[in-house]
Amino acid sequence: MVLLKSLAGSLLFASLGSSFSILRARQNATGLNAAFKTHDKIYWGTCSDQALLQDTQNSAVIKANFGQLTPENSMKWAYIEPTQGTFSFTGSDALVNYAQENNLLVRGHTLVWHSQLASWVESITDADELTEVMKNHITKVMGQYKGQIYAWDVCNEILAEDGSLRDSVFSRVIGEDFVRIAFETAREADPDAKLYINDYNLDSADYAKTKGMVALVTKLLGEGVPIDGIGSQSHLSEYFPSSGVEAALTALASTGVEEVAMTELDIKGAAAQDYVNAANACLNVPACVGITSWGVSDKDSWLSSDTPLLFDSSYQPKEAYTAIMGVL
Ligand code: XIL
Repeated sequence: MVLLKSLAGSLLFASLGSSFSILRARQNATGLNAAFKTHDKIYWGTCSDQALLQDTQNSAVIKANFGQLTPENSMKWAYIEPTQGTFSFTGSDALVNYAQENNLLVRGHTLVWHSQLASWVESITDADELTEVMKNHITKVMGQYKGQIYAWDVCNEILAEDGSLRDSVFSRVIGEDFVRIAFETAREADPDAKLYINDYNLDSADYAKTKGMVALVTKLLGEGVPIDGIGSQSHLSEYFPSSGVEAALTALASTGVEEVAMTELDIKGAAAQDYVNAANACLNVPACVGITSWGVSDKDSWLSSDTPLLFDSSYQPKEAYTAIMGVL
């Protein structure tokens, strides 16, 4: 009997042990994302796309350390609807499939943006036509991934540095109302996705653009426009140092928006203290749900010469990585 019991016990233990290890592997329990999530945050993610996801070393670092993927380029208008009505989902499908296979969240990036925009859209001059084109784009792209995306950057970089609405084909031809139309269309297309307005240089609470963002989102929320989150890209450097980030995120959260996030974090030079400040900024602001590093290895960064990421060109964790893990 005793023997039987202990046999049963060790069998139970063995089976628990294996299901725990599967769970641990799924949640990459030892890496950056898992450590960050122990502080009531939802993810620490990174950006990528098909080619880099197929790179074995890069993929290993993603699986061990990141809990969310943002397509670096594949969902941008120029690539996903390069000619009117012709959608090309190959690259973005590859990213979403990889995320699902590896239990990663996805941030959709991005639907309405003046840059990396298809040239056929730039040449539209009629407000009704551009409105229909924008609505169709949002509906088709979000429809492709309905129910599979944690959050979408619906509008990206729509503010100028002085906090006013940036000049773009959307603001010029439709006027400010394009923002409301975009968010309402997005809510309808995928009611489960968190809808974000995303921008850069929102890293100081005193900066005009941050104030402009706070004013715009406060106004739009008052009008019932369905905005769930503000994304602060967080491309930090001597111009926008890490020391201002926490106060800036607090200001963005003061709009009453449900959540804020650091959506494209990289820091010129990647000083350990700067990365600790950036991580602490999100940790200390309750509305901040997560951080996305804008890439894995310095070698693949869009700002490669600034060596701004957490892994060096050989995919080895840098001092900043160790410092953050120490804090977490
Ligand atoms: C960058 C990508 O990292 C590059 O590969 C691409 O050549 C240009 O765009 N703001 C954004 C991101 O919202 O989409 C940009 O990504 C960086 C600035």
